[in-house]
Amino acid sequence: MNPMSIRDGLNSSPRESFSTSEPLSVVGVCLDDETWTALKQFAESAPLIKLRSHFSEYRTQETESPADWLGTPPPDICIIDFDRDRKKAAQSAETIHSMVPETALFAISSDPQPGLIIDAMRAGCGEYLLKPVGREQLLNAVARVGGRRRERLQPNKAQIFAFLGAKGGCGVTSLVTQLGALFASSFSKRTLVVDLHPDFGDAALYLGLTRYRYHFFELVENTDRLDAELLQSFLAHHASGLDLIPAPEGNDMARRIQPGAIAQTFDFLKARYDYILVDMAPGLSDENLEMIRHCDHLHVITVAEVSALRNAVRHFEYLTRKEIPRERFRMILNRHQKRSLISEGEIEKTIGQRIYWKVPNQYAHVVKAINGGDPIASLSSSDVTRNLKDRASMLGAKPSAPTEKKKEGTGFLGLLGRS
Ligand SMILES: Nc1ncnc2c1ncn2[C@@H]1O[C@H](COP(=O)(O)OP(=O)(O)OP(=O)(O)O)[C@@H](O)[C@H]1O
Ligand SMILES: [Mg+2]
Repeated sequence: MNPMSIRDGLNSSPRESFSTSEPLSVVGVCLDDETWTALKQFAESAPLIKLRSHFSEYRTQETESPADWLGTPPPDICIIDFDRDRKKAAQSAETIHSMVPETALFAISSDPQPGLIIDAMRAGCGEYLLKPVGREQLLNAVARVGGRRRERLQPNKAQIFAFLGAKGGCGVTSLVTQLGALFASSFSKRTLVVDLHPDFGDAALYLGLTRYRYHFFELVENTDRLDAELLQSFLAHHASGLDLIPAPEGNDMARRIQPGAIAQTFDFLKARYDYILVDMAPGLSDENLEMIRHCDHLHVITVAEVSALRNAVRHFEYLTRKEIPRERFRMILNRHQKRSLISEGEIEKTIGQRIYWKVPNQYAHVVKAINGGDPIASLSSSDVTRNLKDRASMLGAKPSAPTEKKKEGTGFLGLLGRS
């Protein structure tokens, strides 16, 4: 059972933040006459909702696609009566939730048993209304949906930088956490790290953040219920000012991510940050591919080893076949040493891509930073941090460094298009 369903269904009341500018469209499924009449009266007395239609049968995917029968654009809210046939009602809710995730689902029933409420929530319902439905109850539930819609309409802001290792262990988590902490502390940028590993992510550990309740995939599964208050319960805060949404611990149950849900979640997050850095697991899973399609820049991190370089080539070729624009790719050479067996020229020639950023090899410092859980403090005197700072300063976000001469196109952030 995910946590936000319970909270959403039973508690908070953010209706004061609800914009009344445009009514929310509502459809009903198998509602009894009394409930439908109450809804009509509510719609007439308060211009918060507009009733669109009422369906007298439960529909499941086998019968017809919900996107077809719900209409275009999909309604903001679908209220499903669970009293006539709980099983079919739950199937109906599940189908709508997976096929039309932007529609908020309300269950309505005269039965208040907690087990039944949980079943409805599991089927995707964000609210459980008790009959006879009262005006106050309806108002609060509708206001929550309105508040979320308003938040979604806020203009996108953050740049999303995705980081992917050419193979495991290339230094993705080290770089993402260091860069994130640097953006937040030295540049005062609102920065979020998202650990996109389906399991065994390390970002929380590298940041020394062990106390958190929920992980990124729970957020994605509930993207249609997302609002600012709910987001807070997912964030772990690092002393540098950096926020983190961690990965699952690794013993989580299997999950199904709906296509588009990751993009939708990032659209919501974008409005709240200046930078979002994504720590991706190696490989080209469906989730990674959706993230790559949705990010501003993909940074493929490699080391000067044959296997990593061969994988980097394969990644770039595969993504090009998937029609990801080449300009989006950046190649980062980590653990760089001047006297490497494979020269920079050879690497660029092999991969067919310019090296975008070179990070020096500083094993002892990086490991110390990881063990200390503070990616900046332990590294403050290292070449790695100097390298990161040097690159990050090209952003121009720090006016306190006027003496630093800006070398066009060489800085990390400059190259990211933010100098
Ligand atoms: N610039 C560097 N210099 C020296 N060692 C480094 C550097 N960057 C990372 N490392 C080391 O490489 C190892 C792997 O780093 P990290 O965990 O960040 O890689 P990753 O790509 O996130 O791995 P995974 O695929 O397991 O998620 C760590 O031991 C880390 O200390
Ligand atoms: Mg990692």
